[in-house]
Amino acid sequence: MADYDLTIIGTGPGGYVCAIRAAQLGLKVAVVEKRKTHSGTCLNVGCIPSKALLHASDLFEEAGHDFARLGIKIGAPKLDLKAMMGHKDETVEANVKGVEFLLKKNKITAFQGVGRIVAAGLVEVTPEKGKAETIATRNIVIATGSEVMPLPGLEIDEKSILSSDGAIALSSVPGRLLVIGAGVIGLELGSVWRRLGSEVQVVEFLDRILPGMDADVAKTFQRTLKKQGVKFRLSTRVTAAKASAKGVKVTMEPAAGGTAETVDVDAVLVAIGRRPYTAGLGLEELGIARDKQGRVETDGNFRTTIDGIYAIGDAIKGPMLAHKAEDEGVAVAEILAGQKGHVNYDVIPGVVYTMPEVAAVGKTEEELKEAGIAYISGKFPFTANGRAKAMRKTDGFIKVLADARTDRVLGVHMIGASVGEMIHEAAVLMEFGGSAEDLARTCHAHPTMSEAVREAAMAVAKRTIHM
Ligand code: FAD
Ligand code: NAI
Repeated sequence: MADYDLTIIGTGPGGYVCAIRAAQLGLKVAVVEKRKTHSGTCLNVGCIPSKALLHASDLFEEAGHDFARLGIKIGAPKLDLKAMMGHKDETVEANVKGVEFLLKKNKITAFQGVGRIVAAGLVEVTPEKGKAETIATRNIVIATGSEVMPLPGLEIDEKSILSSDGAIALSSVPGRLLVIGAGVIGLELGSVWRRLGSEVQVVEFLDRILPGMDADVAKTFQRTLKKQGVKFRLSTRVTAAKASAKGVKVTMEPAAGGTAETVDVDAVLVAIGRRPYTAGLGLEELGIARDKQGRVETDGNFRTTIDGIYAIGDAIKGPMLAHKAEDEGVAVAEILAGQKGHVNYDVIPGVVYTMPEVAAVGKTEEELKEAGIAYISGKFPFTANGRAKAMRKTDGFIKVLADARTDRVLGVHMIGASVGEMIHEAAVLMEFGGSAEDLARTCHAHPTMSEAVREAAMAVAKRTIHM
């Protein structure tokens, strides 16, 4: 007899959301988590702490650079890094406690320890102290997330050679910070430390920043970050870094090969991606298939190659995003409860929480070109938006990509203040198969930054009003 209908290994955004949805649908649910607190990478060391620091450092920057232009004289702001880190820690604690409360409220049994799948229907939990116990369960969901991708030649010590875990917990501002990887983590955390006083240079293997995002947006973004003082070295590969009492010696060379060069910095952030974390789960012994990147293979219904075992979130293919993991958690819970759970992978927004923010949903121009889909692009800059001018936030633009034949919106790309919130009207429109004309005909409140979204939709039909 099974003790539970469902046992989920890992309580990140994928796992805890899956547990709550399954409990709502009447399943008897257990979760297994090896961390001391629930909520996974996202709430403990990822999305939430990084956004707490991005918010605080953004205000620090505004106070130092923008207040005077708005007629507010306060003198140079002083940084209290300990208090800023305190704000981050309190934010994490409040969010993590919230998840613990939700698990209890939904009568989900939580086991603390490392989970291992012994066989379909059996999960062994080994706590830090005490004896292992075995859970009998009808179904298992693997929601074990991801870990930092290491870089050969560098040993992360979280003191001067950092992963994101160390970079959100520094006790002093590094004088010179070298960031390896111009992806989301590198640019978000690089921005935090630049605002707080570090000299930041970003070394990127490719010839552009933010691979996968719209190239037009990425170019504008790089220009803006450069204006803010971030230095970029593109098409460059870091081959080694050695830490000593004096700092870190970093060796790099052109990505295409060539003469190596060494630079001295105070700290290095390794942000070259993350990889699925499935160590010790027992996948090899069970014969659960993984792809070349180590992601658990799943079918359209999140089933692994073994019956009764499912997988979601960062551990499987797709963007490594908290909301993608959450949606997969909901879908698999609904499937297990006999419903038709589903995730629309064409409409998963992505946001970079810098200043300006970058936000996107749907296809990029590059993807549409590659797929041979004829499209019309409508673009509108924030320099022509009244609210943006009033707030002195005129960097950036909105771009709407619509099918040339049907006018259906296929992708929306944004760079500017608050676009991380504004992207959702595009997501809703796309979920309903809406057209650029639908968006252009929807009344938007004035004065708002969102009026630029409407104007970009009007630009598809070449009828913007304010340009
Ligand atoms: P995770 O959150 O990684 O959770 C997996 C859990 O499983 C962990 O708690 C782990 O301890 C546990 N576990 C693993 N193995 C076992 C085992 N054998 N037994 C028991 N427990 C186990 N995404 C966004 O969408 N927005 C953001 O702003 C954002 N910011 C980020 C910032 C940083 C610095 C980082 C590192 C990531 C960020 N992400 C962001 C990505 C986001 O954190 C992940 O996509 C998300 O956490 C994935 O959720 P998950 O549930 O699949 O895995
Ligand atoms: P990433 O995949 O976004 O970027 C890694 C970058 O490093 C790429 O540009 C890549 O070309 C470059 N790179 C790889 N090897 C390199 C090398 N040897 N030298 C120089 N550059 C190299 O990965 P990142 O930033 O580590 O983030 C990991 C994951 O976390 C991402 O998938 C992202 O989705 C998620 N995340 C999401 C956030 C958000 O939604 N706001 C915030 C932070 C992380």
